[in-house]
Amino acid sequence: MLIRDSFAPAPLRRPKRAPKKAQDSASLSAAAQLRQCPVGPQLSNRSRNLSRQNRALGETAATCLGGPAQAATAQIQAQMRQGLCPYLSQAAQNNPTQDWSALNLLRQSLEQGQTDPVDFLHGLHQNYGASVKVGDVLFESRPEVVSQILVATERPKNTQFGKSTLQKESLGQVYGEQAIFLEEGAAWKAQRKNLQPHFVGRSVLSEENHQHLQDLTDKHLDALPVGIPIDLNLKLRTLSLDVALSHMFGLNLELDELENLAGLFERGGKLAQNKLFGLKHQDPELPGQLNALADRLIASPTPAPTLQTLLADPQAQDKEWLRNQVLMLTMLGHETTANLLTYSAAELVNQPQQLAELRAEYQATIGTARPTVDQTTDLKVTRNLIKDTTREHAPNYLVSREALEDLNLDGMRISAGTQVLMSIQDINEQANGKIFSFGGGARVCMGQVLARLEAAVVLSQLMTRFDLEPTEKTSLAPKSDFSSRPADAHYTLHRTDIGQKQA
Ligand code: HEM
Repeated sequence: MLIRDSFAPAPLRRPKRAPKKAQDSASLSAAAQLRQCPVGPQLSNRSRNLSRQNRALGETAATCLGGPAQAATAQIQAQMRQGLCPYLSQAAQNNPTQDWSALNLLRQSLEQGQTDPVDFLHGLHQNYGASVKVGDVLFESRPEVVSQILVATERPKNTQFGKSTLQKESLGQVYGEQAIFLEEGAAWKAQRKNLQPHFVGRSVLSEENHQHLQDLTDKHLDALPVGIPIDLNLKLRTLSLDVALSHMFGLNLELDELENLAGLFERGGKLAQNKLFGLKHQDPELPGQLNALADRLIASPTPAPTLQTLLADPQAQDKEWLRNQVLMLTMLGHETTANLLTYSAAELVNQPQQLAELRAEYQATIGTARPTVDQTTDLKVTRNLIKDTTREHAPNYLVSREALEDLNLDGMRISAGTQVLMSIQDINEQANGKIFSFGGGARVCMGQVLARLEAAVVLSQLMTRFDLEPTEKTSLAPKSDFSSRPADAHYTLHRTDIGQKQA
């Protein structure tokens, strides 16, 4: 019997019913089994256009995993840890051709606009526990286990986890696999050793670099229009891109051009995410445009130390290698910082008391003078706000790994090839103050000192010089592709007294 013959499509806007008591799943028909799912019946309007079969199975499954379910029982949580959703096991047996993998379920949810990946992951962990294994994908958010996994990556002896194939096949297809973020083993080690010196405190926290950051911040903040709604996230991505290009390649571009290029990377992030979750989305012009940008970066007339290091590498004879490296660094070097800044500004708008404290501290420490690097790093209110935002709205929301051998992970057997997806926000929530937003282990974020300094310079100046008035649509809900940002960051800016003086 085909499942579609036995399943009556759920009426739209069906009133909520108390879930029936769970029965032995083997004794139930697939349809009855699906109806037991606490969230399955709450199908959305968006199912209207789907085939009946999809609606009955796929969408129920997607909603089941990602939707606002009632907490699952301990028994169900235990079953989830073993593999397939218990509500769906019979259905999966009856319809083996359907792709029941967790990623496919997430894909269906995303395709229907039902959920954002950050919410999906959060719902998954809230409803089914901190460790959920579906097929060959493990969703893991227990801090101590995540720490073990991160430390077991690129360990000098016995590396048990590597970068995930899923990530290589998504991000790698957009920006190239031969880049520091995705390379492994000896190739990764050599790259990290060569590039790291340009990102450590000694280089980044210099007075010269700080003054340069100030100049770039002034250039962008001076040009912000007041009195009309602007997309703050786009403006901050443009600013961060300027910092990244200038810091790493010594390239200084005009605002309009930077804004267009920020749009290019937004398309890149979207394409990578769509590839990750198997969504049908193409952007045929993007590779050519990214390559043209890469060639410009490589040809910078005044190469900064990072670019000099890359150019001096014997592998730089291979143009593809060089393009991969510069594109990946540019993407990593601006998007997450800009999104962190957007979330931080949005949080301050919602917390007038903290905003007042930030401004008072800025006035007391710096006033209208040009700050030194020590003064900027001394801004405790700004620093704490950035720290809290990094914890609560982790811009790089998903870190992934792949098991390289059969393993026993805290009592759970996982086989070689298992993809481990770690939801940073959920991990942070359980980590007693420890923050995983910059990753950990040998592959911890290489740019975190730059990201923190830039965030402090830009946030303190932006929020001291301007009042931000939200529009009707402004929303802090996550909108995530490679990294996570607020769904709508339109604000109307008004100059404060300090802003008036500086204008
Ligand atoms: C708020 C801003 C940032 C956040 C939240 C962030 C987050 C992360 C995370 C979580 C990882 C680890 C990924 C993994 O283990 O799979 C990472 C790696 C990395 N980040 Fe960042 N990052 C930020 C800013 C930057 C900046 C400004 C740069 C500058 C270029 C940068 C460069 C890198 C690089 C090169 C890696 C790869 C390190 C390796 O694999 O050895 N990041 N970042």
